[in-house]
This record gives sequence, C-alpha cells and structure tokens, in this order.
Amino acid sequence: MYRSHTCGELRESHIDQEVTLAGWAGKVRDKGFVVWIDLRDRYGITQLVFDQDRTPEGLLERARETGREFVLQVKGSVIERASKNPKLPTGGIEVLVTEMTVLNPAETPPFTIEDQTDGGDELRMKYRYLDIRRNPVKNKLIFRHQVTMEVRKYLSGQGFIEVETPYLIKSTPEGARDFVVPSRMNAGEFYALPQSPQTFKQLLMVGGMDRYFQIVKCFRDEDLRADRQPEFTQIDCEMAFVEQEDILNAFEGLTRHILKTINGVEVGEFPRMTYDEAMRRYGSDKPDIRFGMEFGELNEVARHRDFNVFNQAELVVGIAVPGAADYTRKEIDALVDWVKRPQIGAGGMVYVKCNEDGSYKSSVDKFYEPEDLARWAEATGARPGDLICVLSGEAATTRTQLSALRMEMATRLGLRRPGEFAPLWVVDFPLLEFDEESGRYHAMHHPFTAPKPGQLKLLDTDPAAVRANAYDLVLNGNEIGGGSIRIHDKKMQAVMFRHLGFSEEEARQQFGFLMDAFQYGAPPHGGIAFGLDRLVAILGGQESIRDFIAFPKNNSGRDVMIDAPAPLDAGQLQELHLGLLKD
Ligand code: AMO
Repeated sequence: MYRSHTCGELRESHIDQEVTLAGWAGKVRDKGFVVWIDLRDRYGITQLVFDQDRTPEGLLERARETGREFVLQVKGSVIERASKNPKLPTGGIEVLVTEMTVLNPAETPPFTIEDQTDGGDELRMKYRYLDIRRNPVKNKLIFRHQVTMEVRKYLSGQGFIEVETPYLIKSTPEGARDFVVPSRMNAGEFYALPQSPQTFKQLLMVGGMDRYFQIVKCFRDEDLRADRQPEFTQIDCEMAFVEQEDILNAFEGLTRHILKTINGVEVGEFPRMTYDEAMRRYGSDKPDIRFGMEFGELNEVARHRDFNVFNQAELVVGIAVPGAADYTRKEIDALVDWVKRPQIGAGGMVYVKCNEDGSYKSSVDKFYEPEDLARWAEATGARPGDLICVLSGEAATTRTQLSALRMEMATRLGLRRPGEFAPLWVVDFPLLEFDEESGRYHAMHHPFTAPKPGQLKLLDTDPAAVRANAYDLVLNGNEIGGGSIRIHDKKMQAVMFRHLGFSEEEARQQFGFLMDAFQYGAPPHGGIAFGLDRLVAILGGQESIRDFIAFPKNNSGRDVMIDAPAPLDAGQLQELHLGLLKD
C-alpha cells in the first residue's frame, strides 16, 4: 500500500493516527534542529516534520537533502501543529515522520511549482506536465471534468445518446481549412479530420437515433487566437422532429443546468435578439449584454453642419462611456491612438464630454452647437459625466470598430465582471455571406442550414437578405454555441448547392452520400454544437481557453512539448506516396 491517506485529507480528528502518505516534495524549510517538507499531491499539501528529538537517527539529514519534486513515501503519526495555518485545510496538523522512502529523485524543475510561478508561458508549455502540478492549471482541468460530467448526465437524462463518429473522413465544408491525413493503402488519396461531425449527425437522424450528442474533438486549420485552438472540443448535438423553438428550449435547459450546478447561478429565460438587431445595437453578432453602452446612430443629427467627414460617411455612430467625461486630453489622445491601431483600423474618433454642469466640450466644437451635441447625447443615452465616442465610415466596418471600442472601454471600466453571466440567443442569421476573395456567396453557417420558411424565393433576387433558421448562443460576449434547423429535403438541398456555386457534379461528388440518404426518409431535424473549451473557460471566469486544455498548442499551432508538427523520414514519405515532397 503506497498510502493510507492523500495529502489533502488529514485533519485534527486524525491526531495520533499512524499514516502513510505519498507525493511530491515542495518547499523544504531547514531550521537546523527541525526540518519541514511540504508534501503535495492532487488533493492538497500536508506538512511533514522531522526533528532532532523525535525522528529516528539519520532521518533529519536525509530530509534536509530532499530536493524539490522528489517523489516521497513517508510513514509517521499525525500531530497537532504548534502554529496552525488557517489557510490550508490540513493546516491544523502535521505528520511527524518516522520512515521515509525516496520513490524517485527529481532534477530541479525549470520553474517553481507554486501558484505564482517564475516560469514564462513557453517554458511552462514545454514542461506542461510540471505546470499541471500547479493548482491554477490542475484546478482548471478538474473544473473542465466537472462541466463535462454535468453535460453528460444532463443530456443522457434528457434521452440523448452519445454516439462516436469517425475522425478519418472526407472534408466537411465548415469554412475553415481541413487537416488532412494521407492514405497509405490508397495512393494519392487523403482523409480529412472532421471540422465537426456535421454530416454524420445528420445521418444519425436519418438512421432514427432521434437525439444524439457527442463530446468530440474537432479540427480546423485556421489562424489561432486566445479562444481558438486547431483541435478543440464540441458538445455536438442533434434532434429529429423539432423546430427551432424546441432546440432553443432544450439547450437553454442544458446551459441553465450547468450554470446552476457548476456556478451556483440561477438565470431566467434567455433573451433573444435577431442578428440584425444585435448588429444595430451592439455592432456585433455576439454582444456582451452585461452592460449598456448601446450604439446611438447619429446620421440624422450629425449631418446638417459643415463637418464633411460625417456628411460623407455611410454611418455615424456613437456610444456613451459612463463616467468618462473627466478623461484628460492625454487619455483621450491615447484612446484615439487605440482606435487607429491597425487591429481596429478607424480613421479617427470624435468625442463629446458631457460635463456634470450640463455643458458640452467636444473635438468638433467648431462645427456643432451645444443643441446639436445635446441631440447626440439623447441618441446615445449619455448622461452628465459621460464621454460620447463617435466613429464614422462604411457601415459594417464602423460597427465592428465601435464594437471593439465598446468592449475595450467595458474592460477598462471593470464592467465585464467574471462572476456575472448574461446568456443571449442571437437568431435569424443571414443564410449567405458574400466572400470578397472568391467573389461569390458562401453559407454563413454551413450548406445544410435551412432558410426561414418562405424566404427561398429571395435567393434569386436578393441573396444577402435571406435569413436562416440559424442561431448562436452567446455568453458574456463570446459565441459558445451555434446551430441550425437543417434542410431535410433533397430538392431544396440541391437548390442550396446550386446557389453556393456547386455544379451538380461537384455536389454529387462531395455530398452524394447525404443526398442519397435524403432519398430514404430524412426526418425534419436540427441541432447545435457548443464549444466546450470556450464554455468551460467562460464559466471559469476567463476568455483564454488554453489553460483549460491539458496539452494545448501555441499560437503557431505547435506543441512545444512533443515538438510537433515534425518532418517525416524519407521511408515514411515514400510509403504514404508523398515521396515527391522531399527535397
Ligand atoms: P460552429 O462552427 O459554430 O458550428 O462551431 C460550434 C462552436 O465551436 C466553438 N469553436 C471553437 N472553439 C475553439 N477553437 C476553435 N477553433 C473553434 N471553432 C469553433 C465555438 C462555436 O460556437 N457543425 C456546426 C454546429 C451545428 O450546426 O450543429 C458547427 O461546428 O464555440
């Protein structure tokens, strides 16, 4: 028996018991006649004590020589601590050691394994297994496990069946690039790793599974950000014989259950907003609605003077930043620089200080009278003490820029409180979006998304206006899930493919299996997929998903621990019929 208890278990009620513990050596404190070692495992830390009078001959010296991260097994008795540590669950006791075995010595670790470490990001990633010994990372993995378990329990309780779908597939068009795997047995042919199990879950509906879910890895070769990894996990779901309303209700139920069991937060009915409304009020299809600062459109009230920038702009739009009227000239200049950074790309920013005494001071005082500015304040909902920030230009770009500024100001003002949860359904997404690069329309969600009833005829005349039975679940300004009602009719699917620029032959070649399946009785169906990594990070009060993934990739898509990706040797390349790739 390696241990009788874990390192997080012993309390004052265990005093006088003989115990055996095993774990890693943390801090070793040497006071000459007495040595303390913190013994750590997943469950906690227990203080070991070795002293001149009470420990057997020679043990004190061995304790003194114990290095950090040595794996130890100790036997001893639980005693009351002279000076207790109320911050530690085991802080009332210590173990007076009578026997110690070094199960494995260790090199000095490259960074200290404490909550606050001296290790930089890259170093911690290289030695991720050591990083996982630290509470902040370990606790996030445990947190993820708890969320995953609750999801499985809940969905299973609602009659969903978890079915595994294959990883070696043919590419599914989800908008990102595929990772591909060469086939040894089929020269010159490749599998693709799934960007999502989309087509398979639809086939499971044709197969009569009725309610499917899967906690599943997905792979997308796209540029990485804090909330994106090349391999990530979805809670993927599909239901048959449903309308949009049924899906929203079912997954609102799941989200509410998770918020309650994991965060202890009860939320009421989730608000719903159309895509168009979200763009108009927040300039974003994933607005954070925990705070106001809604957009005020100023075209009407800003256009009748001699300020040409506004007169020529397609959109003039502002937000009222609460309590920021006392920003200094320097602070405002810094804000103007911030919106002009290439990442935001605004040409400039006009501001209006709404002073407490009811007067206004703006960067365009030359052009506008106080009565004008009062109308701006009304349109943006600004109150005395607020700072109105105004951007202008091409409508869609300007909205995106102002949305970025809104989020930045909310962060600076501490309005994005981690413990507060504001879910939101964004519905009625456009079916198609125009892609400048290829000069044609693409499916905004994916090609299997159904248009809203009665909108099909618009496809020929005004494709951008067609709205889809597609929805996203947004939590605190993050898209945590998205889905749609699917097309289940072979003819309509063929019409969609045609509008997406697939020839009949291309459609058959890529999706023949799905179109065939639709000939054999496909039920009406729809679904959703949550980004598990994102969901877990946000529930945990963070936006970066990396620490909630045991072995994440860095921003260049590399695993610096195992050093992947890596070249293959000539023999392997040959076998995979990739011989020509070697130089
Ligand atoms: P979608 O592409 O919207 O939908 O993906 C669903 C959710 O997955 C998360 N997500 C990611 N998380 C981390 N890293 C990434 N690279 C990444 N990409 C996406 C997001 C997103 O909301 N098959 C459809 C679902 C459906 O229609 O049922 C799909 O995959 O949180």
